[in-house]
Amino acid sequence: MSAPRHGPAPVESVARLVGATPLVRLRRIGADLPGVRIYAKCEFMNPGGSVKDRPALRMIDAALASGRLGPGKTLVDSTSGNTGVAYSWICAALGLSCALVMPGNVSAARRRIARAYGAELIFSDPLEGSDGAIRKVRELVAAEPGRWFYPDQYGNEENPRAHELGTAVEIAEALDGRVAALVAGIGTGGTVMGASRGLRALAPGVRCWAVEPAEPLHGLEGLKHMASSIVPPIYREAELDGKLPVATADGWAMAERLGREEGLRVGHSAGAAVAGALEIARRMAAAGAAGNVVTVLPDRADRYFEPRRWERRMAW
Ligand SMILES: Cc1ncc(COP(=O)(O)O)c(C=O)c1O
Repeated sequence: MSAPRHGPAPVESVARLVGATPLVRLRRIGADLPGVRIYAKCEFMNPGGSVKDRPALRMIDAALASGRLGPGKTLVDSTSGNTGVAYSWICAALGLSCALVMPGNVSAARRRIARAYGAELIFSDPLEGSDGAIRKVRELVAAEPGRWFYPDQYGNEENPRAHELGTAVEIAEALDGRVAALVAGIGTGGTVMGASRGLRALAPGVRCWAVEPAEPLHGLEGLKHMASSIVPPIYREAELDGKLPVATADGWAMAERLGREEGLRVGHSAGAAVAGALEIARRMAAAGAAGNVVTVLPDRADRYFEPRRWERRMAW
């Protein structure tokens, strides 16, 4: 007979530690609303520190299974954000090559983190911003299609599927299927589309809301203002119950509250998601409805700070 286990079983690769993130009840935010509880899915607990580990791993696993990625091929995409971090660490963990195209003016911190995982960096014209980086990837892939695997997270259905078969199932299990509302930010739309599809099957009656920045020019990194953006092919607004606009100032203020009042030091898109969840919780309480509101915290606040250099010398 084997002894009872007191911790997780060993795994063959850190890539197999993606998902199974904790769901934490917010104790103070929304505590004044009778019958309504707000829960936060802590996606910053993934090995790469963000929600993007899930779709990146699923897109990579699917490409490996179909032979579109493997020895002699390099994953390439145009991202300097959380998806770039996810691609680079997962490729390192699985022994695959990874190249990221970034505008030539991205911060030193963003370059350092990708290089630390051994990713090759290719720079596009800084004056053309992220659209220039997308154009550059498409040129590279068109010129040498046999050399690259281009996951294209905006159009790849494995992105929402990672949340439909992962995030949503974990949330429904944790709350025994009792989820009144889901509230999540829109970047590619992968989280909100996939999690809402999964939850509609597992939590009858759930209502699903997307949070977007209230202004076209905003400071909620990771989120897209749909009316002024190229709409990602995987995003299908008609499937949702509605959108909640959140002002940059309100997302930032909520991120600060999460640190001070809940012990959660999260990024601004997480602040915006919780601001949206609180709005839905208030509407439910005003209508006399009870239930669980679930939201997603995509990453930690420290992703947005320039890391300090390690001390080179010990002073005793
Ligand atoms: C910080 C942050 N928040 C939210 C999102 C939105 O996630 P999704 O792409 O699944 O819509 C992203 C994704 O890029 C992100 O990096």
